[in-house]
Amino acid sequence: MLVLLFVGAFFLGALDFTDYVFSHNTFCGNACHVMESTVYKELQESKHYNTPTGVRATCAQCHVSGRLTYAMVDHFLGTGELFVNLTNDFSKPGSFEKFRIAAANRERFKMLGNNSETCAHCHVMEAIKPVRIRGQNAHKDAIDKNVPCIACHFNLVHKDVEPSEAFLNAVEEYLGQGEETDEVETTPDEFGEEPAAGEEEVL
Ligand code: HEC
Ligand code: HEC
Ligand code: HEC
Repeated sequence: MLVLLFVGAFFLGALDFTDYVFSHNTFCGNACHVMESTVYKELQESKHYNTPTGVRATCAQCHVSGRLTYAMVDHFLGTGELFVNLTNDFSKPGSFEKFRIAAANRERFKMLGNNSETCAHCHVMEAIKPVRIRGQNAHKDAIDKNVPCIACHFNLVHKDVEPSEAFLNAVEEYLGQGEETDEVETTPDEFGEEPAAGEEEVL
């Protein structure tokens, strides 16, 4: 009974806890501390932090969809890897990079599977007005086929990670739905133009 109460309290507190951990600079130890100098720093340099209107996205707004917060930790570190990683010495530069690729891949699959619902905490797809034609076309197609944001907008705020083949295949399934006509092209090269210097890639 006590155990159940404890577990219940843990999960109730979990959402609050994540927000606390990630929105305050008091991180919880090795694993969280390393995020401060990596993913958190990256966010601070992104367009989701430096907005003209001062609206700033927090970790939880993009990563926690209202279900168990523990899943967040799980997705980032992998259940099996979690304890190994907690005992890692993350103070070594680059120690985080070892598992970044797998973590990015897991997070992308999660956002693909839940229709990128966390993005909708702030963005209303129908209301977005991409500046350029390619964006307008891509969005028209995305609405028609109900394509999740992450299919096109990966490498959004953190250090770039090459998408895995499995992820690209999964994306292809969304984009290829319905018609036999041209695929929607989602990489800068395929669009036939490089992003202008100083411009962040939105892909
Ligand atoms: C605007 C949305 C957004 C915000 C805010 C955000 N993330 Fe992410 N995060 C993503 C996306 C999208 C991915 C999937 C990888 C990719 O394509 O960038 C990701 C991936 C990750 C990963 C996996 C490793 C990696 O580099 O991809 C970790 C860890 C992570 N986020 C932690 C955090 C933490 C901690 C914060 C707050 C300091 C945060 N994120 C804020 C969107 C966001
Ligand atoms: C907390 C609210 C919030 C959340 C959650 C959020 N965004 Fe944003 N997003 C913003 C704001 C604010 C801007 C900047 C708008 C501006 O400057 O006009 C922005 C800008 C963008 C841009 C254009 C700038 C760029 O980085 O290229 C894209 C693309 C984008 N968001 C995609 C996403 C995706 C995909 C997700 C889900 C993973 C997401 N956003 C989650 C608030 C949010
Ligand atoms: C089929 C691919 C695709 C999907 C799915 C998609 N987008 Fe986009 N989006 C694009 C492209 C391409 C652009 C234009 C990028 C450019 O011109 O640099 C764009 C532009 C944007 C912009 C405006 C950037 C600007 O200033 O023009 C925002 C904000 C944005 N997307 C958010 C989202 C969100 C949020 C979702 C999910 C609800 C989403 N997108 C789904 C491909 C997509």
